[in-house]
This record gives sequence, structure tokens and C-alpha cells, in this order.
Amino acid sequence: MKLSAAQVVDVLRAAGEPTRLRILALLAHEELAVLELCRVLDQSQPRVSRHLKLLAEAGLVERFPDGAWVFYRLVEAGHAGELAAEVLRRIDPADAVLQRDAERLLAVQAERAAEADAYFARNAARWDEIRSLYVAEAAVEAAILKAAGPGPFKRLVDLGSGTGRMLTLLGPRAEQALGLDLSQHMLNIARSHVAEAGLERCELRHGDIFGTRLPDGSADLVVVHQVLHYLGDPAAAVKEAARITGEGGRLLIVDFAPHTLEFLREQHQHRRLGFSDAEIGRWLADAGLGQVEAQALPPSREQGLTVKIWTAERASARQRSAA
Ligand SMILES: C[S@@+](CC[C@H](N)C(=O)[O-])C[C@H]1O[C@@H](n2cnc3c(N)ncnc32)[C@H](O)[C@@H]1O
Repeated sequence: MKLSAAQVVDVLRAAGEPTRLRILALLAHEELAVLELCRVLDQSQPRVSRHLKLLAEAGLVERFPDGAWVFYRLVEAGHAGELAAEVLRRIDPADAVLQRDAERLLAVQAERAAEADAYFARNAARWDEIRSLYVAEAAVEAAILKAAGPGPFKRLVDLGSGTGRMLTLLGPRAEQALGLDLSQHMLNIARSHVAEAGLERCELRHGDIFGTRLPDGSADLVVVHQVLHYLGDPAAAVKEAARITGEGGRLLIVDFAPHTLEFLREQHQHRRLGFSDAEIGRWLADAGLGQVEAQALPPSREQGLTVKIWTAERASARQRSAA
């Protein structure tokens, strides 16, 4: 569907104001919190919020509340988003105002990375406690690399990407990668890890597994690593992960086998104490995936956790007709 002339006027009017154009150019770098935009633009929150409201009404940006903060990002899909992207493409990259904004954004990002490191340091002890309960991380990662296959992948999507370990592990095999997480703290840590690893075509996006807004079949490798046991509705998360797995693509779920370590529920917010092959297999089959395989990595010590890697594939059109 094309835009009507009136809609084009609305979009251009929304983008056709100096501050709003600067906001669009900033959001083309990454999603940003209102306060971050205020700092870069050096404008008051009510002013920036009013501009953002107009941009949202014209369908150019999306709003994402996260606790007490509100985040915004560009709307990529749809004609309004495409028109705005075309406007941004036409701007001289050496434009002095936009360059100054980009420099200020770099300063904001550097501060965020420092905060993220501090947060990681505060929480590292807990994560190590969990890690020490199961087989060595290196063995799990080697098994994940094998289960994913050699690639190259067109688009890797990591749901609940946390600190970005799966992205730095599998990203080098993918042309494009996207990490999605609910926590801005985690995303900030992931952003610095991904930058350190030199992964250029890797986006970190704030979002919920239960409604990723990613198009059907848009990835050929989807990973859900140590996330399901935190979720209230893991079946729905598997369904969403399967939905974005394209024809001929692969879904990797990594989690724990059923266990009895109740303290993980009490102290580490685990909701589910592991998953059986039957349960995961049923969810994958219900979601239309086949070729399900399960691999177990037993703990390196007694009373530990067994890590499971479940892989499944969405058949390609050729495989379907051959079958
Ligand atoms: C234990 S971490 C695992 C991170 C990463 N997959 C890894 O293994 O290194 C779980 C992550 O899932 C994220 N998460 C939890 N619920 C989520 C949801 N509904 N949507 C997106 N991310 C979620 C958390 O913010 C956290 O970063």
C-alpha cells in the first residue's frame, strides 16, 4: 500500500523541523531514552517529548517504556519509515550539526558503557555461582557452535541476548545479527562486548520475546540461550522464536534439563527448574519445526545442572515437496 498525498505531507511535516530531523538522525544510530536525547540535543525534556510525540503520531518513531524510562526507536517497516529513511539518506554525512550530535552521542554511549561495566561487576559473582554449577562454559560454547552449524548465516537473532555472549560467539558466522533483550543494563553491556569483538553488522535492540515485532521467517539462525527458565510462558517464547525462523533456518534452545535445585528459584529468579525433551519437543512441533535433536551436557560435579541444547529446523520448500 502506498501513502496518500496527505500522508506524505504529514510525514514530511513531522520530519521537516530542525530538532525533529536531528532526533531521527540520532535514532538511526540506535534506540535512545528521552533523557539521553535531551542531553545530546541540549534541550529540555518537555520540548524533546513534544517533538517525539509528533514523530510518533506520524508513524516515524516507536515508544518503549522501560520502568521509569521511556525509549524511542525508528520505525523501520512501512512507507512512513521508508520515506524518513530516504530523507536521512539524502543528508550530507559531513553536516556540522549532525556531526556534533553524533559526537555528543558517543560521549553518552561511553558513560553508559562505564555504568554497564560497574553493573556487570556487581552482578558477576551471582552469575559465576550459577555457571560453576554446570559443565564448563567452554564445553557448552563448543557444543553450541557445532549445533548451530558452520553457516554462513544471513541473519542471526538472539532472543534474551543478555551480555551478548551468543552474539560474539556466533556473530562472526552471520552477515547480520540482532540481539533482543528487555534489560537496558544487559543491552549496554552487550553493546560494549559486541564493539570490542569488532562485530559491525550487529544491532542490540530493546524488546520483549513475547512480541518481538520481527517479521515472519526473517532469520536463518535463532538462539534462545538460558532465557526460558525465567519466563512465565516459555511455550509462547518458543512459538515466537519459531515464527521468526525462516524456511531452511535453525532454532537453537539452550537451557537446563529438569533439576531440583530449588535455591535457583528462591535466589536467582528461576521460574522453571529445567525442561524435559518431551515438553520442548512438543512446543517445537506445535510451532511447525521438525528435525528436533537434543544434546545433554552433564555437570562437571555432583549436584550440578545438565545443560541441554535443543535444535530444530523449519523445512525449506524443496524439503517439503521431497517429503
Ligand atoms: C540469564 S540471561 C541470559 C542471557 C544470554 N542469553 C546468555 O546466555 O548469555 C537472561 C536474559 O533474558 C532477558 N529476558 C528475560 N525476559 C525477557 C523477555 N521477556 N524478553 C526479552 N528478554 C528477556 C534478561 O534481561 C536477561 O538478559
